[in-house]
Amino acid sequence: MVYNRLVKTLGVSKRAGLAKPSPTLAISAKAKAMKAEGIDVISFGAGEPDFNTPEPICRAAREALDEGFTKYTQTSGMPELRAAIADKLKRENKVEASSDQVVVSCGAKQSLYNAAMMLLDEGDEAIVIAPYWMTYIDQIQLAGAKPVVVHARADNDFLPDPDDIAQKISARTRAIFINSPCNPTGAVYPPETLEAIAQLAERNDLWLICDEIYERLVYGAKHVSTASLGSKIAERTITIGGCSKTFAMTGWRIGYAAAPLPVARTMAAFQDAVTSNANSFAQRGALEAFRMGGDCVEQMRAEFEERRDLMRAELLKIPGLGVSNPKGAFYFLVDVRRFLSGKFDSDEQLGQSLLETGHVATVPGTVFDAPGFIRLSYTASKNNIKRGVDRIGGFLSQPKT
Ligand SMILES: Cc1ncc(COP(=O)(O)O)c(C=O)c1O
Repeated sequence: MVYNRLVKTLGVSKRAGLAKPSPTLAISAKAKAMKAEGIDVISFGAGEPDFNTPEPICRAAREALDEGFTKYTQTSGMPELRAAIADKLKRENKVEASSDQVVVSCGAKQSLYNAAMMLLDEGDEAIVIAPYWMTYIDQIQLAGAKPVVVHARADNDFLPDPDDIAQKISARTRAIFINSPCNPTGAVYPPETLEAIAQLAERNDLWLICDEIYERLVYGAKHVSTASLGSKIAERTITIGGCSKTFAMTGWRIGYAAAPLPVARTMAAFQDAVTSNANSFAQRGALEAFRMGGDCVEQMRAEFEERRDLMRAELLKIPGLGVSNPKGAFYFLVDVRRFLSGKFDSDEQLGQSLLETGHVATVPGTVFDAPGFIRLSYTASKNNIKRGVDRIGGFLSQPKT
């Protein structure tokens, strides 16, 4: 509303009314401000690994700088990097894509935007599965299309029911967004679910936009790329990934899309009009990341798995809390509905009070179209996980006033 008023008074475009600040960043900002005042806030709000980028990756970028590798590269990325990503897709994901089909971008977020802008027209519909990462909705709307939401239920491990998706497909549907492993639920889609969605896409002539940014962060589950399910589905799938989460490289801004050649070409042309190439020396770091062995990735993954197990064990001690068993990413989406009658009206109020009086930062589920839930990320030390969950327990056990 505020933004719509701004559009009128400032004379900016209608599109400007769609550009909203991220609520997740607003919470992080508040938590940071409290920390700056000397308050011991424990943050479960962050959407990024707390590890440093592995040293060989940093070294490769430093060497690139020392060599003066500081000029524009091809818009779709250095040929060696695109070849390394194509190789990785084949080796790890069983996805066949030539390096011409790979477009390197300034993060998976940009690749998603390129895809939304190149595949969706004004009046089209795109299906998004809730709870979702809000960016999909923003980008679909920026492309002039309409997001159509299908809800995945907590009692089904936050996996969507393909029949629910089928019911939402109309003559205007152009695409389905899939995010596995999922932010915010941690759900990892099993092959049967992906097969069923792929069949819907084939039957209804739809694109699948598969955000696989958390692919390497799985715990006792296997990540399956939708484009690996067969050549027919690969022809209608855009696979999106990047370095941010797997290699603790959020600030480097390197992502990619692998798409059927004509789509890859249009995405590159669009990116050419918007940003050109991703940072040249960050690409050299990314090249090292994709080429090097998986040891340091495995170390980070194993540490996340231990933290996940610890956080789950601690959360299960809190009576009344609904705790899921996420198999991927680094989040719990916790059901707080039992605590919402009386003291708090919404997850947003609860989250705010938890931060202000309990000194724990979380993200309210409403941000992800999951009212009644809060998201906790376990990108914190084990000690802080124990202390933070302990504080949540204490906060929730306080009598209603
Ligand atoms: C589901 C999902 N996709 C994409 C991204 C963004 O990735 P990148 O840093 O590569 O733009 C995020 C970041 O939080 C995310 O949660």
